[in-house]
Amino acid sequence: MSPIEKVYNFLNEAGVYYLATEEGDQPRVRPFGTVLLSGGRLYIQTGKIKDVSRQIAADPKVEICTFKDGTWLRIAGELVNDDDHEVKVAMLEKMPELKAMYSADDDNMQMLYFKNAKATFSSFTAPPETVEF
Ligand SMILES: Cc1cc2nc3c(=O)[nH]c(=O)nc-3n(C[C@H](O)[C@H](O)[C@H](O)COP(=O)(O)O)c2cc1C
Repeated sequence: MSPIEKVYNFLNEAGVYYLATEEGDQPRVRPFGTVLLSGGRLYIQTGKIKDVSRQIAADPKVEICTFKDGTWLRIAGELVNDDDHEVKVAMLEKMPELKAMYSADDDNMQMLYFKNAKATFSSFTAPPETVEF
């Protein structure tokens, strides 16, 4: 399993993660659940009309945190917008419940992938393990 696959599997199994952005000097955080691995990239999904999307456009540096079975994962990096139609379709196929709110052809659905990402798995019982992608 490649490092990015390990991160992807952990996010899927955790189900929910928390995405932190910045708005000026004010941190913002909210629950997210979308995740997709495509073309060797780790994607998340949002709506362009959301505040979170505006914050990422102004400052793409974000951090994600989630927790599962005694291990927590933090991913710090930058998010890059990708308007590729196939990636949107793949996200909607993976999580069909999104189809109630989004389509690959609307002006709202947004796919974002990580670049310059540093993912760290931590626990109270083992040294931290960091992977980059
Ligand atoms: C469990 C859970 C998972 C969620 N997953 C997502 C997601 O993947 N993408 C998204 O845009 N919103 C998701 N939401 C909704 C956002 O948390 C919500 O729209 C939030 O207000 C967005 O942040 P903002 O208000 O700063 O724009 C999820 C909500 C919950 C409760």
